[in-house]
Amino acid sequence: MTRELILAFESSCDETSVAVIENGDTILSNIIATQINSHQRFGGVVPEVASRHHVEQITEVIDLALKEAGVGYADLTAVAVTYGPGLVGSLLIGVTAAKTVAFAHDLPLIPVNHMAGHIYAARFVQPLTYPLLALVVSGGHTELVVMTAPGTFEIIGDTRDDAAGEAYDKIGRVLGLPYPAGKEVDRMAHLGQDTFHFPRAMADSESLDFSFSGLKSAFINTVHHADQIGEALDRNDLAASFQAAVVDVLVHKTERALAAHPVSQLVVAGGVAANRGLREALAAALAARFPNVTLIVPPVRLTGDNAAMIGAAAHVELAHGHLADASLNAVPGLDFAHVN
Ligand code: KG4
Ligand code: ZN
Repeated sequence: MTRELILAFESSCDETSVAVIENGDTILSNIIATQINSHQRFGGVVPEVASRHHVEQITEVIDLALKEAGVGYADLTAVAVTYGPGLVGSLLIGVTAAKTVAFAHDLPLIPVNHMAGHIYAARFVQPLTYPLLALVVSGGHTELVVMTAPGTFEIIGDTRDDAAGEAYDKIGRVLGLPYPAGKEVDRMAHLGQDTFHFPRAMADSESLDFSFSGLKSAFINTVHHADQIGEALDRNDLAASFQAAVVDVLVHKTERALAAHPVSQLVVAGGVAANRGLREALAAALAARFPNVTLIVPPVRLTGDNAAMIGAAAHVELAHGHLADASLNAVPGLDFAHVN
């Protein structure tokens, strides 16, 4: 078998990442330069600041990725890049860098959808079998996606308002936690109890769609009301109650999706896939109701934004001959219907 080496770029938000992936399933390097420290004092990602950091870091990150993988440009088979969805200024840095490398070294250029990348992170855990169901939960997305074959995506559930990670970050802010708050809320949740019984929006509806804005408002109102009357609430219980509501809805909708779409694998993807409460609840739900469905949750380093997952998705796109030319542009609102 010839050795396929893809140099993959990811710069859609606040991580500058470059990876070298062998044959779609082996990580030779996966350099992730995060900018979180620069955004924390603003309580969220500032697009202009993000673009500037990507420009400053990208060249060094490419060099590190090649060095760690022990390969040079002449060894590469192709170059891949996230071209959407994401922040336009951030995406453009990765797209421009990838186009430049592809042009300078006469390599094919593979355009990759960031959300498809999140799902393909599971490929580093084990081979994917189809059809599969993916629960994609990140800072910008909350989706249930059915894949009947490699490279095909059908969205069967979507958020009507906030994404799950966004809700974590917003209530974390109310608790005075630095951005992004998901990991810390998860930690606190394990120290508390669900004493507040926040609403589980749309849990009973037939729809597979999600809504988290009502939960977020209930949380904020509870905290503000307590502040006004000078009552101290247990922060760990608040975190536990919020997490219980999010996890209940995510698990409930996923079970409903599994009942309607028989699959052999459930992939959990995106930054919120790192959530311990979610992992535990999904594992318990599968064991109880869908024992034949295998749960695939990538390691934490691969659930957040990284270029390795883009390389894994690019391997599939390359096999399908889905290539871009020098006219490739960033598409900030790219959806799954436009994976190719
Ligand atoms: O996929 P990702 O790295 O970036 C996007 O594409 O959005 O996801 C980032 C999101 C943030 O909202 C962060 O708070 C959340 O993932 N997150 C978590 C956990 N770790 C990260 N949310 C809940 N529990 C966690 N352990
Ligand atoms: Zn992401």
